Amino acid sequence: MKSHVELHVCNYERKDDENCIQKGSKELTDKLKKWSKETHGKDIKIIRSGCLGKCSEGIAMACYPEKKFILEATPDDSKEIKERLEEALRKVLES
Ligand code: FES
Repeated sequence: MKSHVELHVCNYERKDDENCIQKGSKELTDKLKKWSKETHGKDIKIIRSGCLGKCSEGIAMACYPEKKFILEATPDDSKEIKERLEEALRKVLES
C-alpha cells in the first residue's frame, strides 16, 4: 500500500558547512518516524532525504502530496509538524 502523506527530512551532513544534521535533523526524524509508525502505520511515511537545497534554512523538509517545504524546524517542533501532517492526511482522505 502506498503512503498517503510523505515527509522527506533532510539528513544530509555537509562537511565544513551549514547543514541539517548539525541542527538536529536526525533526532527530529527519529521522533517523527517512531510516532508515524505507532500512530498512522503506512498512512504517513517519514523518509530521511539528502540535501534539499535549503541548507541555510534547515532543518529542511518537504511534504507530499502538498509539495511544500517546511523550513527552520527544530527537534522541539515535532508536535507542530505532527499536526500539520495529520491535517495533510485528512485532506488526502477527504479528496
Ligand atoms: S543540508 Fe539540509 S537542505 Fe541542505
